[in-house]
Amino acid sequence: MNSNTSFHDLPALDTAKLPAHVAIIMDGNGRWAKKRYLNRINGHKKGTEVVRTIVRTSREIGISILSLYAFSTENWQRPQKEVAALMTLLKNFLQSELKEMMDNNIRLTSIGQIERLPENVKMALHKATTATRENNGMVLNLALSYGGRSEIVRMVRKIAGKTKDGLIDPDSITPELISEHLYTHGMPDPDLLVRTSGEMRISNFFLWQIAYSEIFFTDTLWPDFNKDEFIQILKDYQNRERRFGKVGS
Ligand code: IPE
Ligand code: IPE
Ligand code: MG
Repeated sequence: MNSNTSFHDLPALDTAKLPAHVAIIMDGNGRWAKKRYLNRINGHKKGTEVVRTIVRTSREIGISILSLYAFSTENWQRPQKEVAALMTLLKNFLQSELKEMMDNNIRLTSIGQIERLPENVKMALHKATTATRENNGMVLNLALSYGGRSEIVRMVRKIAGKTKDGLIDPDSITPELISEHLYTHGMPDPDLLVRTSGEMRISNFFLWQIAYSEIFFTDTLWPDFNKDEFIQILKDYQNRERRFGKVGS
């Protein structure tokens, strides 16, 4: 498929049954590179191109929120060279995609320990977030230095602090209140969670939020992922019956 594909090239998707929030664990860049006797960093570079494609496709299809797991709290433990390369790629992505995000009415948000990111990444992120804040065509939500457990710890600290100050009564702590104190406050939970590269695990991505998400694992390595496969996954999602603990229809 070439880069000029547009709406009418999309195979039939039921627009009434689209997931509002899609979350993706983009995994397999390193293995993609290894298979080609390349440095892992080449895999991350190719992976960034796939990010562009999937953002564009999501916007075309009409997905409201696309959350991408780009860097976990645990990923800081990778070799310093790899971390530095990932940070540079991230900064370059934020700078080069700003125009595309503006042209396509995409709002950029981020979740995670943003304070741990290098200064130049924080600046690029702040610039893109501020510039796109009024856009309402789609939210591109990047999980950066994100970990589900540290998000939960942060939430507990906030609620405990408010409780101590008498602002929250312990009896008024509800699932909704907890959601409001997570990074994802104001967002619906993901309807669909996709993980590439064949690993059958969550790796500390959304823990609270995926209680009722539909999960799709694919063996495809992230740099090989494409628009066609993404649409196939969305079709699979549309054929599932979400029961939320109730009885089926
Ligand atoms: C995903 O690809 C990118 C990040 C986690 C930042 P990996 O780098 O984890 O690739 P594999 O899993 O080693 O193949
Ligand atoms: C999960 O992938 C994190 C991201 C995709 C950003 P990892 O490659 O870090 O996860 P594990 O180590 O295989 O669980
Ligand atoms: Mg991995």
